[in-house]
Amino acid sequence: MKKFITFEGIEGSGKSTQIKLVAEYLSQKNVSLIVTQEPSGTEIGRKIGGILFDRKNNNMCEKTEMFLFCAARAQHVRDVIMPALKQGKIVLCDRFSDATYAYQGAGRGLDEKFIGLVNDYSSMLLKPDLTLLFDLPVEVGLQRANKRNDNLKESSSIDRFEKETLDFHKKIRAGYLRLLKNDPDRFCLIDANRDVNTIQNEVRQCISNFINLKI
Ligand SMILES: Nc1ncnc2c1ncn2[C@@H]1O[C@H](COP(=O)(O)OP(=O)(O)O)[C@@H](O)[C@H]1O
Ligand SMILES: [Mg+2]
Repeated sequence: MKKFITFEGIEGSGKSTQIKLVAEYLSQKNVSLIVTQEPSGTEIGRKIGGILFDRKNNNMCEKTEMFLFCAARAQHVRDVIMPALKQGKIVLCDRFSDATYAYQGAGRGLDEKFIGLVNDYSSMLLKPDLTLLFDLPVEVGLQRANKRNDNLKESSSIDRFEKETLDFHKKIRAGYLRLLKNDPDRFCLIDANRDVNTIQNEVRQCISNFINLKI
């Protein structure tokens, strides 16, 4: 059964916006689903995320970073994703393993084979059935993310990743596109440099086709 759907893309590409909208739409169509996200899909993952995103941890070793994301994933897969899939629910997940390959592989330069070993072990070999990749120029994504942070109450909510260089984010974008090239059947490439509704229509179509839902 094809039920595990992930949303990927650089900061500010609209993942959280689109996952929320499509979840509302699918719920109205009586599709049984959960929405979750990494690394904060569990209470333990949320705490791990606190360490990962804290700007004070700017000297974090890239291996530590990778292990922490995978640690959060192990918890998430066991406690949230697998149980929902076993109940026959669709799981819409904001970021998953591809983000580790893109950020810690393409971005930080860690060996992909090693990431694969740790990630496969952490995720119990669970792979997404469908991945929507939201692609747009990094300058546009970061501008959106900055604007979003300005609107949040806390004055400087920009995290350890968002404050990385433009060059780092360009590597992430390229890394994601490489993942797509290596596994084209799993991915749906979405041009995220358009307005929210246009993108949402495409997201609905893509997911509805995949789960055989009449629009
Ligand atoms: N298509 C869009 N056009 C313009 N702004 C957008 C679009 N999609 C999302 N945004 C805004 O950009 C910011 C980042 O979007 P968000 O969904 O949080 O991205 P992500 O979860 O990928 O980091 C938010 O303030 C959101 O309201
Ligand atoms: Mg988000």
